[in-house]
Amino acid sequence: MHYTVQLLFYLHASLSLFVLFCQTATTVQKYSMSDKELKEYTSEDVSKHTTTDSCWLIIGNSSNGGPKVYDVTKYLDDHPGGAEVMLDVAGQNADEFFEDIGHSKEARNELAKYLIGNYKLTEEEMAKMKADAEKKAAQGGSSSMMLIVLVALVAIYIAYSQMNS
Ligand code: HEM
Repeated sequence: MHYTVQLLFYLHASLSLFVLFCQTATTVQKYSMSDKELKEYTSEDVSKHTTTDSCWLIIGNSSNGGPKVYDVTKYLDDHPGGAEVMLDVAGQNADEFFEDIGHSKEARNELAKYLIGNYKLTEEEMAKMKADAEKKAAQGGSSSMMLIVLVALVAIYIAYSQMNS
């Protein structure tokens, strides 16, 4: 009886910790998604800024708060990768290029300085982003379940080791 109570205690404690961890992660994600005060730009707006006098880029995706619009005109000459690579994707969605290079945390902090607004997704882009997010959530769901099972198994193992010592 005593060991059953101990086992239940371990199970409860580890599952509570896991739930707390999940809630914190969701809150952080929700917080970083709320940029309602920012201006919203369409792809037509962004497509007008493709030169050294005015260079805008769309960078961001569902895993980091959604696509945002950046006016990088003043950064062109300072970019370690050169101005040309940025001008090549000026006025467009440059997220894939930006991510493919594997930009550092410093580069991401630098990027934040040039934020001018949110990007208004087209119906088509919205559907694609929703499908991607759902796919990711489904993958996350099954790995969360595996983690719960793993935590429960560890708790049972600890309880049984104590019972036999
Ligand atoms: C405002 C947006 C951007 C910022 C703030 C930025 C920042 C940086 C920084 C700090 C580096 C040095 C390496 C690092 O710390 O990661 C870098 C390198 C580079 N970036 Fe960017 N970048 C931006 C956009 C882009 C875009 C849109 C492209 C491509 C289309 C690009 C292509 C490159 C390349 C090719 C390098 C050189 C990588 C290397 O030396 O291995 N960057 N960028």
